[in-house]
Amino acid sequence: MNFKTLDDVNVSGKTVIVRVDLNSPVDPKTGKIQDNERIKAHAETLRELSDKGAKVVVLAHQGRKGGSDFLPLKQHAELLSKHVGKPVKYVPDVVGEEAQKAIKNLQNGEILLLENVRTLDEETVEASPEEHAKGILVSKLAPLADYFILDAFSVAHRSHASIVGFAAKLPVIAGRVMERELKALSELLEKRDKIMLFMGGNKPEDCIKVVEAILNRGKPEIKLLLSAGILGQLFLMADGFDLGAPSIEYIKKKKFDALIDRVKKLEEVLGDRLMKPADVACDMDGKRLEVTVKYLPAPGPIMDIGGETVAIYTRLIRSASKDDAIIVKGPAGAYEYEQFRKGTAEIYRALAESKAFTLIGGGDSSTAIRLVGLRPEDFSYVSLAGGALIHYLSGKKMPGVEILKR
Ligand code: 3PG
Repeated sequence: MNFKTLDDVNVSGKTVIVRVDLNSPVDPKTGKIQDNERIKAHAETLRELSDKGAKVVVLAHQGRKGGSDFLPLKQHAELLSKHVGKPVKYVPDVVGEEAQKAIKNLQNGEILLLENVRTLDEETVEASPEEHAKGILVSKLAPLADYFILDAFSVAHRSHASIVGFAAKLPVIAGRVMERELKALSELLEKRDKIMLFMGGNKPEDCIKVVEAILNRGKPEIKLLLSAGILGQLFLMADGFDLGAPSIEYIKKKKFDALIDRVKKLEEVLGDRLMKPADVACDMDGKRLEVTVKYLPAPGPIMDIGGETVAIYTRLIRSASKDDAIIVKGPAGAYEYEQFRKGTAEIYRALAESKAFTLIGGGDSSTAIRLVGLRPEDFSYVSLAGGALIHYLSGKKMPGVEILKR
């Protein structure tokens, strides 16, 4: 893919508007945002721009209007300062007098974070760059800047004002995070003929969408799908296994049972390329109890894959060669609880040791990686994106990637 990066422009003395993604988990008790890999990664882009003498104006969002995680960005500025290693100024304003004055007063190398861009009603309207360019955000801020740098791959599936609008008025450059994500993903999807998938977690529809899209495209070919988490349970249900009342109740409450027909279809198409759990681990009064599938129903809610499944899956992962690629979506089970961490810990360890190109994606994968005692560097690539990654892997157009091609 052809797009401009920070290597192609001289930003010294220029004012750059940088759209990053600082959307972070919020501690419900304290209301504090939790420090995370996204903030760290975008801080590197900002430090580079500052070191090169740019006047850096940062746009980002936190939460969605009406949600409990919809917060001002003051805390984010403090965390960014820590990771950039320089002060990051903050103004509680996006397009008003205060924001405009702060932008005009920036000196070379200074960084300024504006208020949560989703405080503007127009921000989340899905519209074209030209339509958004007529809005207040672009009409107030574009005249003050020389370049627009899009670093937020994880929001690039949205045609929001701060993602696409500036492209109608300013030259668009990919930031370092955007550049890394696009290179890793195209390396995976365009240069590999065959891939292995490990899919777990509690968003089975996202997993199904990705598998369906890859099958429809016919490229890369799916060599193996190792199923775990809720998707694994749905495959067992499709085979007629009774998971047990607690798990069935959960699946019905979440309306995941509506996915059974699509799951059956995948089973048909994938045939023996599909691996299903041979055993599961359930919660018996807080303790881990493993049940072989032929002895189902499980007496408690299913929380992880069992030891036999772990042995089969890890053997398959370890046998992958350096020409193989493995995409990982989600954990094997409820890794937050120590007694149900075994599946995720052992699978992730096998992935870390594997010679294959390993890509882990999904919002909280970095947390899972650290909880099982590994580091993001132990994998070929850890994507910072959740919804955007699913969108990309499903082969859909990404408005924020399209504008880079202009
Ligand atoms: C994310 O956290 O995945 C991105 O920031 C996008 O957030 P959104 O789903 O609220 O648009």
